[in-house]
Amino acid sequence: MTKKRFVDPFFPNRPVDDPNRFSGRETQVDEVIDSLFQTANDNPKHTIITGDRGMGKSSLLLQTKLLATGDNRLAEKLRIDLGLEAFNYIVAWHDANYDQSAEHIVFGLLRDLESSIKRFFNKFTLELDVYGLKVSGRDERERSIADLVNYFCEMLEKSYKSVTENKKNGIILFIDELDRVKPDSGIATFFKLCTEKLNREGMKKISFFCAGITGAVQKLEEDHGSIFRTFRDVPIPRLTIDETSRILISGFDKAEFTFDANVLNCVYDLAVGFPEPVHILGSEMLSVCEAENLTEKDFENAKIKVVTDVRRNKLRSLLQKAGYGKYQQILEAMAAFDGAYVPLDYISKYIGYDQNQFSTNISNLIDRDTITRVDKGVYTFVDPLLKEYIRNFGVLNIKKNDEDDEEGQIYMDV
Ligand SMILES: Nc1ncnc2c1ncn2[C@@H]1O[C@H](COP(=O)(O)OP(=O)(O)OP(=O)(O)O)[C@@H](O)[C@H]1O
Ligand SMILES: [Mg+2]
Repeated sequence: MTKKRFVDPFFPNRPVDDPNRFSGRETQVDEVIDSLFQTANDNPKHTIITGDRGMGKSSLLLQTKLLATGDNRLAEKLRIDLGLEAFNYIVAWHDANYDQSAEHIVFGLLRDLESSIKRFFNKFTLELDVYGLKVSGRDERERSIADLVNYFCEMLEKSYKSVTENKKNGIILFIDELDRVKPDSGIATFFKLCTEKLNREGMKKISFFCAGITGAVQKLEEDHGSIFRTFRDVPIPRLTIDETSRILISGFDKAEFTFDANVLNCVYDLAVGFPEPVHILGSEMLSVCEAENLTEKDFENAKIKVVTDVRRNKLRSLLQKAGYGKYQQILEAMAAFDGAYVPLDYISKYIGYDQNQFSTNISNLIDRDTITRVDKGVYTFVDPLLKEYIRNFGVLNIKKNDEDDEEGQIYMDV
């Protein structure tokens, strides 16, 4: 019998755009709605969504944009009061990228702001001066950032008029992937000076909404210590088993598959609260299933397919980036542990070193985004599928007593 073709209801590669497919996060949605409400009422709440890699930051930021522009579906689904009928903000969006300076971000935002306003008022233009503001040398950075802030606020003032005269709630400036920006780019100083200036000049219906990976965003404080005082932090936690199950159930229902209840637990045990593996596993379970009822066997087959095929290259390069020698031994130990959260003394016994003999390796693995610290002395994989990969293929060239894990050599063979 040939299998009926259906549209894959899971989407591991893109943020959630449909509010009905957005699972959980009630508290966080309530907080971003409150920031929107406060800003509309001259009490700007600059907000930053933080969380581990792949935890759903861009998805929440995108949902905020939908809410800000009058799409009330998520608030209705979660029964959250907006405080008014619907928001009608003008919005601008910029995805930050590696090596971008504060200037790139400013121009990205202004260009998008200009085209958003044009949608309402045909003839509007900001006459952006791209060449007038090139940041010259590092020594001049402070001055340049101050110039940039002046320029940005001038442009916002031009835009602000059309906003208030036409009864818009204000302007929301979205910046995603803020973690990619280097601490020495001046971005934190930019935020600090800019939010103060907007406040001084009475432009109180403007706020920034950013998203970025927790640790990297904290590094921005190296540039300006008080950035978090000006921003409301909305941390996104792991999904609960219930929230994970809702992603699966709504997908299975959409594709018209039934399922044995234990597959929900199996996916949760492997994905440990991360939404992306839930989508990958959901999608692959539907693809390997021969009947129209999903069983634990389909879960097992899907898991193998993900690590040996669908994500094999990505997982292998994750493993290479971790470094060799002791680094691989630590990862091997973590994969051998029966459970997602691995205590340090288990690793220590497994690899035969005292904890202080590999504590630098542990911090490097955290910096390299391979593992994360869940609690004092407890670690877990950033990508939970890496554990399955190691269980299937092992780690890379472990040579015991090999000291090739010194700094400097790590990336050479990658
Ligand atoms: N609340 C949610 N309900 C259902 N699926 C979700 C939810 N949040 C995120 N996802 C899914 O998880 C995956 C990762 O989400 P997203 O891209 O938003 O994460 P991120 O934190 O921005 O990732 P990165 O750190 O790579 O920028 C996507 O496939 C997305 O559709
Ligand atoms: Mg993202």
